[in-house]
Amino acid sequence: MNHFYKFESKEIGQELLELATLYKANPTLHSSKGKGKRIGCIFLNPSLRTRVSTQIAAQQLGMEAIVLNMDKEGWALEMKDGALMNGSTVEHIKDAAGVLGSYFDILALRAFPTLTQKEEDISDFVFHQFVNYSGIPVISLESAIRHPLQSLADQLTIQELAQKEKKPKVVLTWGPHIKAIPHAVANSFAEWTLGMGHDLTICHPEGYELDPIFTPGALITTNQEEALEKADFVYVKNWSSYKDYGKILTTDSTWMLTEAHLKNAPQAKIMHCLPVRRNVEISDELLDGPRSLVQQQALNRIFAAQAVLSKLLP
Ligand code: CP
Repeated sequence: MNHFYKFESKEIGQELLELATLYKANPTLHSSKGKGKRIGCIFLNPSLRTRVSTQIAAQQLGMEAIVLNMDKEGWALEMKDGALMNGSTVEHIKDAAGVLGSYFDILALRAFPTLTQKEEDISDFVFHQFVNYSGIPVISLESAIRHPLQSLADQLTIQELAQKEKKPKVVLTWGPHIKAIPHAVANSFAEWTLGMGHDLTICHPEGYELDPIFTPGALITTNQEEALEKADFVYVKNWSSYKDYGKILTTDSTWMLTEAHLKNAPQAKIMHCLPVRRNVEISDELLDGPRSLVQQQALNRIFAAQAVLSKLLP
């Protein structure tokens, strides 16, 4: 594993889950492994969990973490090769990533999609420009199309709660939102859940089909009631349309998950990556009740990041 930005294999997924479980039980198990090493966490977009959990994970391995809010504190970056830089961009990614690559041992990058330039987004252009020009391992802290550290934490959460003797029914349901939201969390959750061998049902309104490269083998439906029946884990997430790229096609509030939606799913636990729009995506009652795993997911972000960093460290 030279970089970490997608699901690689079930074997690597299992190895990372085992490592994350070890670190959860004993966070300082390898507290000297990263001694003398530095990680640069570059944010082109806001974050709470990803930023702090990655810093804590690095500290627990003895690494120094330096955070740069590039969107607010750095120079405006030109990402395109061969650009004539006589506009608003000040520094080319070739130069900036080259410098960062000489300062750090590992880079980590958050770079959201444009939601307007579909081809650029689905090629994960910005993430790969950092890979191309930094020359060091790069971890995705959420890219245009994937959020793998979130997904590893989510798989850890499912593993912790799943009953040993029963294959869990995992459901990814679209939830309403007032803004156009990226596909990264939904894509990655599907990619990792299917990759780790779980059955996955995905439900969403018409027109919200995800990029099919992330959903091979999933049962896909527009009937939320049927999808939720006998669910064990219900992951709620909004995403904008992929087909009608980046558009909001509906904000139908009947899709908001409430206790009434789970009348035929008595065992169902609910998941969300946070931040969540309360009483828009999910009701307060569910988020504050015993079904909710959202705090456990957020805590597991630390150990997911720690496992990935540990694997990338020499
Ligand atoms: N779930 C998640 O990535 O949260 P942040 O955007 O706050 O990092």
